[in-house]
Amino acid sequence: MLATRKEPRESEPCVFSKKGKIMSLTTLESVLNHALKDLLSAEKQFRDALPKLSEAAANRELASALLEHRDETVHHIERLERCFELLGKSPRSEKCEAAEGLVEEGKSIIEEGGEGPSFDVAIVGAARKVEHYEIVSYADACEYAKNLGHQELENVLRETLQEEQVTDSKLHKLGERLVMEAKRSA
Ligand SMILES: [Fe+2]
Ligand SMILES: [Fe+2]
Repeated sequence: MLATRKEPRESEPCVFSKKGKIMSLTTLESVLNHALKDLLSAEKQFRDALPKLSEAAANRELASALLEHRDETVHHIERLERCFELLGKSPRSEKCEAAEGLVEEGKSIIEEGGEGPSFDVAIVGAARKVEHYEIVSYADACEYAKNLGHQELENVLRETLQEEQVTDSKLHKLGERLVMEAKRSA
């Protein structure tokens, strides 16, 4: 039986696998496009999850760092929309399953409950996993953009990458202090 061939999405080259399935990741440009869609979905999920983590934190510095990063995340979404614009495409997201898993993990920590510095240590851990996912994703997207000669796009992505790195290192330092506090109060 002949496989049904669906039309390819957007204007990317149409390559079929032996089974007649459309393969969409056939060029570096398509990988970049996929990475941007994935990031747009991830950032939207993190924007909605960060206030919940902040609310659960007992340490005021941690709570405000998470809320501050929520505001930055709104700018990350705007920057990604700008990236699509630079590529002449309309912003589209593709469900980021990794982000969904990371958000679920954060939720389960909140549901598990706890108090004091130990609970905050667990919250920092969940938040840093999110930052690390973003750091790798943005660093890779920068690399693709650079090699495709999309200079402005690379600059926009790099701006967000730096904010993710600053957030991670801020959370790391705060986490180290909280670990010491948790150890003392044990
Ligand atoms: Fe972000
Ligand atoms: Fe982030």
